[in-house]
Amino acid sequence: MAFPVVDSDYLNQIDKARRHLRALIATRSCAPIMLRLAWHDAGTYDANTKTGGPNGSIRNEEEYNHGSNSGLKKAIDFCEEVKSKLPKITYADLYQLAGVVAVEVTGGPTIDFVPGRKDSKVSPKEGRLPDAKKGAQHLKDIFYRMGLSDKDIVALSGGHTLGRAHPERSGFDGPWTNEPLKFDNSYFVELLKGNSEGLLKLPTDKALVDDPKFRLFVELYAKDEDAFFKDYAESHKKLSELGFNGISSSKVNVKASVVLAQSAVGVAVAAAVVVLSYFYEVRKRMK
Ligand code: HEM
Repeated sequence: MAFPVVDSDYLNQIDKARRHLRALIATRSCAPIMLRLAWHDAGTYDANTKTGGPNGSIRNEEEYNHGSNSGLKKAIDFCEEVKSKLPKITYADLYQLAGVVAVEVTGGPTIDFVPGRKDSKVSPKEGRLPDAKKGAQHLKDIFYRMGLSDKDIVALSGGHTLGRAHPERSGFDGPWTNEPLKFDNSYFVELLKGNSEGLLKLPTDKALVDDPKFRLFVELYAKDEDAFFKDYAESHKKLSELGFNGISSSKVNVKASVVLAQSAVGVAVAAAVVVLSYFYEVRKRMK
């Protein structure tokens, strides 16, 4: 499918979608599942083959029926309510916008959102998303395949500050934190406490404290929420743009004006050189 034309009409629809999503997420308390939808659409990316990624393919029945996507049809249907009102927006953009809004409305950092992703009808084979029963090396294999780093792995895992596991979906049960509708750094605080009463720790969560490189980031984020928010916003943006090189219209304008300014400076310098050398020539002749 083709790239959407990101003109002023498209940007206007993105603005409206943002508002619809805020209201929808507030009334249904569905921030966690919306964030999970965005992550599962994007997290299939393979940097080598440039396949998968945030391209809306999770809406294909074949893909949302993958075991790891259990429960996400609900979030796909919520997004469809917005899509039917604002049909220009691609599913790929809509799902990523839903993830960004979910983080923001629950108190998390503001994440830069650049529209213009194209939709795909091609779904990757099952097995590209992480398996919660595995360890640190598996996390590295999966996230490095996407082109992401150790820091991205730990920062993004902080997304488990929201929501809970459901036995009928994943076989795991319960929330990671005491306030699963609030985006903060408590996931890392609980992780370092070890066995907190009634709170969930997946084997992959535990791998973050066991692996020495991961652990450094866990310790930093547990004591410094600002550092977590800054890194999370950067990593989330990367995740939401895997395989996508969108340039926001504001950046295009900024870039264009920088080029203009540079050429204006260039012209001014050239003119000054011409004028100065003229005077130099004149003075030489007068001597
Ligand atoms: C690091 C590897 C990861 C593994 C193995 C993993 C695994 C899981 C599992 C097993 C669940 C429970 C699903 C259920 O039973 O409903 C879950 C839920 C969730 N995950 Fe992850 N996850 C990972 C990374 C992420 C990332 C990167 C994000 C977002 C940035 C994220 C966001 C969420 C959210 C918000 C939920 C709660 C969903 C709800 O409440 O319905 N996860 N994850």
